[in-house]
Amino acid sequence: MTTASAPGKIILFGEHAVVSGVTALGGAIDLRAKVTVRDLPGCVLIKTEELALRGFSLDLTTGRLTSTKAAHATRYISAVLREFDVRDMQICIESSLPPAAGLGSSASIVVAAVAAISRHQGQSLSRKEIAAISYQLEKKVQQGLGSPMDTALATYGGYLQFSQKIQPLDLPLQEMVVGYTKMPHDTKYEVEKVQDLKKRYFDLVDPIFQAIGALSEKAIPLIRERNLAELGRLMNVNHGLLAALGVSSRELDELVHAARGAGGAFGAKLTGAGGGGCMIALPGAAGVDALMVALRQARGVPFKVVTGCEGVRLEGDL
Ligand code: PMV
Repeated sequence: MTTASAPGKIILFGEHAVVSGVTALGGAIDLRAKVTVRDLPGCVLIKTEELALRGFSLDLTTGRLTSTKAAHATRYISAVLREFDVRDMQICIESSLPPAAGLGSSASIVVAAVAAISRHQGQSLSRKEIAAISYQLEKKVQQGLGSPMDTALATYGGYLQFSQKIQPLDLPLQEMVVGYTKMPHDTKYEVEKVQDLKKRYFDLVDPIFQAIGALSEKAIPLIRERNLAELGRLMNVNHGLLAALGVSSRELDELVHAARGAGGAFGAKLTGAGGGGCMIALPGAAGVDALMVALRQARGVPFKVVTGCEGVRLEGDL
């Protein structure tokens, strides 16, 4: 039996602007996906305990599927199985990440599966290889769309700076609260919307992108120095600029304002492509619990997270 786990992610600063090459900053979080593989002669069986897909199982030899909700997880895991020409194995997926919420759930499943399956087959892949294979697989499933952010953060963990290249940053762990709107999140749609706006109003949108890039760069020393009040202020500015680009929503704005108001957060912003999905908030003097209550009262689903957590790891190689 071989088990590997990989973290989800949040984008702290720079989403959308990064598509045009300016700096973004992402962090791995302590919500993880875990993939366990066992020998199972004559069969390839995928089982998942994934949050929204509890209890589904798929027998690839007979094609028997016990849940119709399985499509999301199976598309990704099937791509990994094909890549590694998997036979005679049972693959179990467990994840504490909500799927399709912008927290990197599919990337963490792909990265954990690549690590677990390759090791079970006796290969010893480097992190660089795991990241590269996982990115290509995720991109293939998403029909060419996708940045390397999610798979890189799931592989390397910690904090990564994205611009023309990916650079690891040595920054301290930071407690944050994620608020999930429960609204669907469509990265392709939001990215195309913003890129179209940029094409039509380059003179307006490009300065916004440049300002967002500057926020990412100014945030790095603030995280290092733990200057949370200033960091929160910059998160608020980034949210305003993302709203100007048209990627916030009523639900995201309500959670952001609840976090800053009753929740006492130093700052709050949407995270990821927007339109739905999640926001993040930096707990203020009132603490994490007040923030969680405020987000729940605003009809969000709060998750307490720590950013800067460890990347992919083998949990057991028995
Ligand atoms: O919502 P997510 O995690 O898919 O974030 C997408 C981040 C964008 O900057 C909007 C797109 C990208 O490819 O970088």
